[in-house]
Amino acid sequence: MSLVSNRSWTVLGIETSCDETGVAIYDSVEGIIAEALYSQVELHQRYGGVVPELASRDHIRKTLPLIATVLKKAGLNAEDLNGVAYTSGPGLVGALLVGALLGRSLAYGLNIPAIGVHHMEGHLLAALLEKEKPEFPFLALLVSGGHTLLVEVSAFGVYTILGQSVDDAVGEAFDKTAKLLGLGYPGGPALARMAEQGNAKRFRFPRPMADKAHLDFSFSGLKTHAMVTYKALLAKGEDNEGMRADIAAAFQDAAVDTLLIKCKRALAQTGLKQLVVAGGVSANRLLRQNLQQFMQQQGGKVFFPRLEYCTDNGAMIAYAGYLRLQAGERAELTVGVKPRWPLGE
Ligand code: KG4
Ligand code: ZN
Repeated sequence: MSLVSNRSWTVLGIETSCDETGVAIYDSVEGIIAEALYSQVELHQRYGGVVPELASRDHIRKTLPLIATVLKKAGLNAEDLNGVAYTSGPGLVGALLVGALLGRSLAYGLNIPAIGVHHMEGHLLAALLEKEKPEFPFLALLVSGGHTLLVEVSAFGVYTILGQSVDDAVGEAFDKTAKLLGLGYPGGPALARMAEQGNAKRFRFPRPMADKAHLDFSFSGLKTHAMVTYKALLAKGEDNEGMRADIAAAFQDAAVDTLLIKCKRALAQTGLKQLVVAGGVSANRLLRQNLQQFMQQQGGKVFFPRLEYCTDNGAMIAYAGYLRLQAGERAELTVGVKPRWPLGE
């Protein structure tokens, strides 16, 4: 084994790709030793969605104090760190630049290596932070606000995209449907809560591209179907919470079922027996339940990160960064971010 892989690491991770400032410290012996998260939900709420410029400015305000907080929680000084990882894409360009510039400068000042991390790789690897974790190779379903991806994960860093969203990501469709039903931002979790009060059998929404042999996804038609159904009911004079809950339930049912259908197909095609589900939508209770049940029937196993590691956080970036640093990767001194960045590239 090389000296590089034998040394111990204490890596600071910084996540600022969207509307959450996440900071954490990963220790290669003890795991995650400190973490802090600041959500910008209140800041963006009155605009009904994320305002990129406000997001960047708020990351500027919050990132340094959060770094001080996690160092204090861990009982460390900045000099005790020996690596810094930051999300360098995909995401909002201004928001990414805040974390990347801060992280890169901090590493430069401390004379330690830095590494830019792919946000979706962070999500993917978050499942490996759990005690019960998958072994390579496995299939990963990554479901967030910006991405829906089916990935064959052969080894750390070896990713083959099997399918992806051709339009709205599933999280985006949850958010837009939630907005339609008056649930505001961030809509996904609120829509899921409303769906639990509804009758999922009253309407049957389409399962987009379910009958196609490929593994791509399309959720924008499903969102439109929810809108057309809702407007037709309003036009007939039906306007109440029960009806909205029925629409939420039909939408959630169709979205979750579509993800399940594609996972089944990908598992059959690859012969893989382990499935990792990560990203914000992996916090969805119905999705977790249905995938768990299916994998159990198949004699396979499904792995989810704990709920706080499903949505954006600093721990997944610290961990993914640690793996890349210990493999010998280093960021250059120039800071670059990639608002668009296909996983595996
Ligand atoms: O991974 P994430 O925190 O941020 C991105 O990288 O986009 O994912 C956020 C997405 C949002 O679209 C949010 O509505 C969705 O995940 N989400 C959920 C649930 N919790 C978060 N969607 C459905 N059900 C949930 N329980
Ligand atoms: Zn995310």
